[in-house]
Amino acid sequence: MSWKEEEKKRAALESAKLVKTGQVVGLGTGSTIYYVVEELGRRVREEGLKIIGIPTSNQTEAQAKGCGIALTTLDEHPQIDIAIDGADQVDPNLNLIKGMGGALTREKIVDSAAKYFVIVVDESKMSNKLGINQPIPIEVIPMALTPVMNKIKSLGGNPIVRQPTKTNSKYFVTDNGNFVIDADFGEIKNPEKLEIDLKMIPGVVENGLFINMTHKVYVGEKTSVKVIDKETKS
Ligand code: 5RP
Repeated sequence: MSWKEEEKKRAALESAKLVKTGQVVGLGTGSTIYYVVEELGRRVREEGLKIIGIPTSNQTEAQAKGCGIALTTLDEHPQIDIAIDGADQVDPNLNLIKGMGGALTREKIVDSAAKYFVIVVDESKMSNKLGINQPIPIEVIPMALTPVMNKIKSLGGNPIVRQPTKTNSKYFVTDNGNFVIDADFGEIKNPEKLEIDLKMIPGVVENGLFINMTHKVYVGEKTSVKVIDKETKS
């Protein structure tokens, strides 16, 4: 396993300790959260942990089912006790860019419904400013693609439509049947404002700026895990 995978796994195992019996748990998406879901499944099977999960993607849903985690919906459990998710970039205020896995809309819905929101990353995801070498994923209704691209340009962004990895379709398609634009804004001076400006574009379903949501971050490092709490920031 590479250093990076070890860092992800180390942080993931540590974060999974936060989950307690009886909780409704938001399950994020991505290669880091994969380890969290595996560990929660292990605890369900081997330690009798009783939880109900709400997945943020078809991929996580399949994984959670496969490892024995009971699942529910936001209709049945609109309030989540704890959500654990990954991120593509984390700034010192614990604001995030998410969505390189394409699950940003369901992630923002589930993560924002959680009383406690935890992020798990390897150290390469930490950045002094959001947007440095990291585009913002933006989920878009397909028929609105071109006008949304133009509006993103007028906000100062450089938009690229995400390409599919395996399928024959022209563009990457989300679990919701939409496209994703990756918009490079360079270093983002005011992420709060940009999140709202992007949200206001007709045809944008959601954007990957997750502002003032995170309570705790687990950062996997070479030989340890750094824990950063929102309370100790700002
Ligand atoms: C998916 C996400 C992921 O959490 C984010 O892309 C991090 O993924 P990984 O842990 O694979 O680096 O936002 O939409």
